[in-house]
Amino acid sequence: MYLKKIELKNFRNYEEEEITFDNKINIISGKNAQGKTNLLESLYIMSLGKSFRTNKDIEMIGFEKDYCRVKSTSVKEGRELEIEINISREGKSVKINGRKAERNIELLENVYMVVFSPEDMKIVKDEPEKRRRFIDRELCQLLPIYYKNLGRYKKILQQRNSLLKQQNIKVDVIEVWDEILAECGAKIIQERGRFIEKLNETSRNISKNITNGKETMEISYEPNIDKKDSLEEQKIHLRNQLSKNLKNDIFRGSTSVGPHKDDLNVCVEGIDIRRFGSQGQQRTAALSMKLAEIKIIKEETGVLPILLLDDVLSELDEERQEFLIHSVNEVQVFITTTEINDKLKAQLSAGEIFFAEKGKIIRLEKYSK
Ligand SMILES: Nc1ncnc2c1ncn2[C@@H]1O[C@H](COP(=O)(O)OP(=O)(O)OP(=O)(O)O)[C@@H](O)[C@H]1O
Ligand SMILES: [Mg+2]
Repeated sequence: MYLKKIELKNFRNYEEEEITFDNKINIISGKNAQGKTNLLESLYIMSLGKSFRTNKDIEMIGFEKDYCRVKSTSVKEGRELEIEINISREGKSVKINGRKAERNIELLENVYMVVFSPEDMKIVKDEPEKRRRFIDRELCQLLPIYYKNLGRYKKILQQRNSLLKQQNIKVDVIEVWDEILAECGAKIIQERGRFIEKLNETSRNISKNITNGKETMEISYEPNIDKKDSLEEQKIHLRNQLSKNLKNDIFRGSTSVGPHKDDLNVCVEGIDIRRFGSQGQQRTAALSMKLAEIKIIKEETGVLPILLLDDVLSELDEERQEFLIHSVNEVQVFITTTEINDKLKAQLSAGEIFFAEKGKIIRLEKYSK
């Protein structure tokens, strides 16, 4: 699929802008703080309904404005799709082909995107929360029902934690919540387990190619409680663990077991590279995981996602840069950079170069090889 056009109103530093894109390569150049990442963010909200930079929608509204709007036209399997997102201080609304979408979840089935930012380069060495977010973001796109269940789990967890902090603890009330928490949590564990197996298979091959077969990477699920074979067993297990740890949880005022404590283990030749990897190994792993996302989306949905590369080329050495560019020649890609050099252009197939300056986008040139 590809994005054909975007219209922005009061979105971050863009007051009013309309841009038509190339269906293959789009390079967004410009100095720092001009609006390159803002533009990618406006594209990305078309896929998950939220930003990859913030959880607070209102931060995307231009300073001193009351609302913002992003409207996109994309093309999927030959058909045009129009999505409009309005954000105001009262909330967010979504329209798909002119019809009001009841819930955000409807967006997930429409536009598929993979974003790769300098933050993602650190995913292997950062704290577990970043790796959980990576897995969750991916699963939400592949399985909208996962998104719904995850939201429910987080809400109940919050309720349980606030009950645990109260003066007069009502154990019977907590036990009622635990039943639902175990049900939602068990689904998360099972889905994460299934997805991580697939991620491992796909990214292992990619990393082998990047390192010319020199290094073998293995990704595995590190669930906070044991993973069981069936959903029912998983639920019972989580429920038991919650009971077992209740005293401790009351003492700490928070929930100590469950998928909100999961992690992803990344090994190269048997060594845990989260802690002991070189920077190069960690980058190769991050790159492999991201490229695997594209492949898995294609395999599971039949749609080639759109790729957003925010400032990552400068973070990669020449070899990895080339690998990245060559492996994404099928998808529509948006690349932000402060510097365009002829070498970069020579590697990219035909496309278009834009220039961002103070919240305006200027079309610089269309080029072909
Ligand atoms: N809600 C907002 N309203 C208006 N302007 C905003 C808003 N949020 C951020 N900005 C402005 O947008 C600019 C940053 O834009 P952006 O992050 O897209 O820069 P960039 O071109 O990607 O720069 P870099 O090359 O440093 O990454 C800053 O000047 C910031 O003040
Ligand atoms: Mg930026």
